[in-house]
Amino acid sequence: MIDLIDFHSHVLPRADHGSASVNTSLSQLSMARLAGVSRVFATPHFYPAEQDVSRFLARRQGSYANLLKELDDSFPKIALGAEVLICDNIEALPGIRELCIEGTDTLLLELPFNDFDKRYRTSVAALIKQGINVVLAHADRYDRANIDSLLSVGAKIQLNANSLSGLFVKKHLYEWIDAGLVVGLGSDIHGADKRAYKCFSSAIRKMGEKRAEKIMTATMEIFSVAADTK
Ligand SMILES: [Fe+2]
Repeated sequence: MIDLIDFHSHVLPRADHGSASVNTSLSQLSMARLAGVSRVFATPHFYPAEQDVSRFLARRQGSYANLLKELDDSFPKIALGAEVLICDNIEALPGIRELCIEGTDTLLLELPFNDFDKRYRTSVAALIKQGINVVLAHADRYDRANIDSLLSVGAKIQLNANSLSGLFVKKHLYEWIDAGLVVGLGSDIHGADKRAYKCFSSAIRKMGEKRAEKIMTATMEIFSVAADTK
């Protein structure tokens, strides 16, 4: 059986708008466990225009500590990360490296839904040049050509499970998986949304074992580095 890892989730209590309380976080993680998910990247939103890195990290740590008190070994293991919204010159943002998944060089980077700016390509290339492994959050949401232009400078992709769980799955999502560009599958759970991990399970079922294994192997490489630093 494949080890299932959720690459993108909002399960830390009061770290962002993902979970309003420890109880909500426990429900979220119970649903993950029920879906057979053994590991989770907790990726609260980071908005560069509104937040500063050190305050964000302190808040995330406090939130994680509160949650950890209530967890036992039966819950999925958690590695801390962030979902970082791109901005102009993000490559020069002080502390950008600290927003990578803890202990790794992997950064989960979110693009705005509209208005793809051609300068993003320059920023993503500059981050990669700094040695940051840029993973584009929920790449399924965007225009394929825009994502392809970022892939061409070396970015990788995370897909949200709901894009792979319905009756109709866009063909290029499977093409990205088959080309080894997808390093993570995410529930992107906010609140105690019952559909999130149902979608996760059904995405895994639909894509088949070979594709699921390909994604989870890539995710595990990142998770194991994160876990080693704890
Ligand atoms: Fe998210």
